[in-house]
Amino acid sequence: MRTDTPPTIYRKDYADPTYLVDTVEMGFDLEPSLTRVATRIFMQRNPAGSNNEIVLFGEELELVQLRLNGKVLRAADYKLAGGVLRIPGAPAKVVLEIETTTRPDRNTSLMGLYVSNGNFFTQCEAEGFRKITFFPDRPDVMAKYTVMLRADKKAFPVLLSNGNLIEEGDLPDGRHYAKWEDPFKKPSYLFALVAGNLVCQEEKYRLKSGREVLLQVWVEDGNLDKTQHAMDSLINSIRWDEERFGLELDLDRFMIVAVGDFNMGAMENKGLNIFNTKFVLANPRIATDIDFANIEAVVGHEYFHNWTGNRVTCRDWFQLSLKEGLTVFRDQEFSADMIGTDSGRAVKRIDDVRVLRQAQFPEDAGPMAHPVRPDSFVEINNFYTVTVYEKGAEVVRMYQTLLGRDGFRKGMDLYFERHDGQAVTCDDFRAAMADAGKRDLKQFERWYSQSGTPRVAAGVHYDAKSRTLELTLEQSCPATPGQKKKQPFHIPVAVGLLDSKGRDMPLRLDGEKSAAGDTTRVLELTKARQTFRFTDVAEKPVPSILRGFSAPVVLQYEYSDAELAFLMAHDSDAFNRWEAGQRLATRRLLKLTTAVQAARQSGHVVSFETVLGNQDQDSALSDALRITLRDETLDAAFRELVLTLPSETMIAEQMEVIDPHAIHIARQFMRRTLARDLRDDLLAAYKACGTPGEYSPDADASGKRALKNVALSYLVELDEEEVLTLAQKQNDEANNMTDRLAALGALTNSSAAGKAAALEGFYSEFEKEALVIDKWFTLQATARNADVNTVRTLATHPAFSLKNPNRARSLIFSFCNGNPSAFHALDGNGYAFWAEQVIALNGSNPQVAARLARSLDRWRKYTPALQEKMRHALQQVAASSNLSRDVAEVITKSLS
Ligand code: ARG
Ligand code: ZN
Repeated sequence: MRTDTPPTIYRKDYADPTYLVDTVEMGFDLEPSLTRVATRIFMQRNPAGSNNEIVLFGEELELVQLRLNGKVLRAADYKLAGGVLRIPGAPAKVVLEIETTTRPDRNTSLMGLYVSNGNFFTQCEAEGFRKITFFPDRPDVMAKYTVMLRADKKAFPVLLSNGNLIEEGDLPDGRHYAKWEDPFKKPSYLFALVAGNLVCQEEKYRLKSGREVLLQVWVEDGNLDKTQHAMDSLINSIRWDEERFGLELDLDRFMIVAVGDFNMGAMENKGLNIFNTKFVLANPRIATDIDFANIEAVVGHEYFHNWTGNRVTCRDWFQLSLKEGLTVFRDQEFSADMIGTDSGRAVKRIDDVRVLRQAQFPEDAGPMAHPVRPDSFVEINNFYTVTVYEKGAEVVRMYQTLLGRDGFRKGMDLYFERHDGQAVTCDDFRAAMADAGKRDLKQFERWYSQSGTPRVAAGVHYDAKSRTLELTLEQSCPATPGQKKKQPFHIPVAVGLLDSKGRDMPLRLDGEKSAAGDTTRVLELTKARQTFRFTDVAEKPVPSILRGFSAPVVLQYEYSDAELAFLMAHDSDAFNRWEAGQRLATRRLLKLTTAVQAARQSGHVVSFETVLGNQDQDSALSDALRITLRDETLDAAFRELVLTLPSETMIAEQMEVIDPHAIHIARQFMRRTLARDLRDDLLAAYKACGTPGEYSPDADASGKRALKNVALSYLVELDEEEVLTLAQKQNDEANNMTDRLAALGALTNSSAAGKAAALEGFYSEFEKEALVIDKWFTLQATARNADVNTVRTLATHPAFSLKNPNRARSLIFSFCNGNPSAFHALDGNGYAFWAEQVIALNGSNPQVAARLARSLDRWRKYTPALQEKMRHALQQVAASSNLSRDVAEVITKSLS
């Protein structure tokens, strides 16, 4: 382990900046091997600051010269240590001139200024600007920027930065320049530049106000046939934010640029969004329905940041969820509104909750658990998490649930009225919601300060004589790192009651004059335990609790199998209808998993099939799924969700001690059982949804493809010639990537004779499409028969590179996170491979390395034999030299 333990930064230590910046002028002489940056900062002492020391951050920079108010500073005039440059005793008004150099072509961290495929890009959030120049690189220092870019004209014909292009022209020696001015104050993390050989699709768009804006999507030459969907998504985003939130694009020009080497999804730099190619490039040939949907969501997300993030930004990085939770909520709502139908909205909601449960609930239960607004961090890049993003979005959604849609909109309006142009906190947002809605949201603060997933246990008591129903809700929250005891949360619990025919019953709470019109009621649980009494309840109902997943909690209620099947068939709340099926499936999967473990223990296993076959006589699940599958009044997309079993990771979350192999065997057994039970209905659904016309990514068409392909994936479990032929045919004839990839996956996981040829054919057909080759790697890394040796072999493929984050994720991450039974092989070889990869990535790209490091953070949850091997691998990484702050933080917290 590194000897100099990196320091922990605490939220409670926040101090105002000592100097504020008015304007920044920057000049770049761009050369891949050595770029010169001249920066002029106009600053003044901050009345709220505590002293007259200027504090600048800078990393991996060569400082050429530093001048203060025209005077060259000598080494004795300032202190430079550990990435911080301090100039004590500075005057009230300062013009600071800084000359630095950097080496973009050697920057493999992809933070700051770097080169990707010969072009220049930047990534400054969270603290990348300090790799470009010395600066008070913190989000509460907002300034206006003017940027001059100079570069070789042939190699870098396109020069872009934030804001408006105000001048361009030629220079001697084949060079040229472009000058950009951003009229808006912004924090340094929103700075961006792009220089290179790029082409764009552009469109003029008229805003509601009548103003015309220029929209551009920039890509490498040869990719202009893949930009239309991103452009459409941008236009839809602009229109949606005007309509839903009354927020207008404030710039005359808005650019999106795609880059193949990118650590995250995309970045909301003012007026110059920079995107991972994965979230820009699409056409039916190369992109799946999920890709199309993701592009719409991410384009929306980054665009919506222009108001929630850029116009109003974060005071400090502990407040990250202020912009991320809110903006994820906004992109979720945007995607839902783009589908438009109620059932479509429900499908989107289910998708979002699945992500939350699959990724955030485990985080909240592990050693990296942190509140939505963390109290401390070592490396801020480690806190771009599902908790800050997805749980943060749930927290924002709860305001809307509590205040209503109009109330929420009033809160948003007040938030902008108060804070436009400011860097603020999560408390400021909550205050705007409380004040606009005239609500006391004091207790609601605990959603920001307490980590862990709350449990809500429900119990009902129906009294036929008095016709009353008592619903008792009891909340608790498990201990998390640094937080042993939790205080009660303010939890909105949406509830409905179903009569014996499956209809919603009128709801009248004790003390109310009459039943409300609405048959879903949002109860507010604020105490540890509360009882809600419904009166005038004509018969004993089946309760539908936590409708629409009204709060990010685990609901505990002992439904009988019959009640779950009943809810699956009747609940008017589509989310709970789906949820009932998941509960039913989870219950059976856990039983089967236990049976596998017992059989293994007894040592008498002839075949698990026999043992489990005896176990699983009950057809409740098959029967319920058949009803859903046949119900053509339901959207195909919804039926697909109901048919999809909880993932192995989801099942693992339900277990006291995780046994990945038993889970895998149980789940596979259940898939085969369902395939057998539902064979004819699956085939019928496959055929009904399978008429390929012209491709469109709309909700209806993609829903049909989803249902068709989930049917196919079940059917191939039967290993029948007829079905394998269908899969082969689909692989050969598909006119879009969704169907192609589904067929290829089905073949790969079957015994089909043609599967090797299909994989090879796919590779040669799409060799030039990096994003498709990523899918090719992922498919093999997550294939059923894959093991660590499969992945080791693939890692030697000429197309593999650890340096490209998308490629690394497609193979390494997919295996470690997406193939649990193979990764957790009993011999520990999966973990050894993981350790090697974390160490290798640590040297080139700490941020990506730290993400991979998280794959073992929940090691204490596993069987003792696996735990031991996991700890060994973690210690191996801990002991390696030159660990980055990023990886060190994850490993230290995992082992502590
Ligand atoms: N603000 C970006 C987004 O959510 C994420 C950028 C994070 N980048 C990073 N290096 N931590 O859209
Ligand atoms: Zn974001």
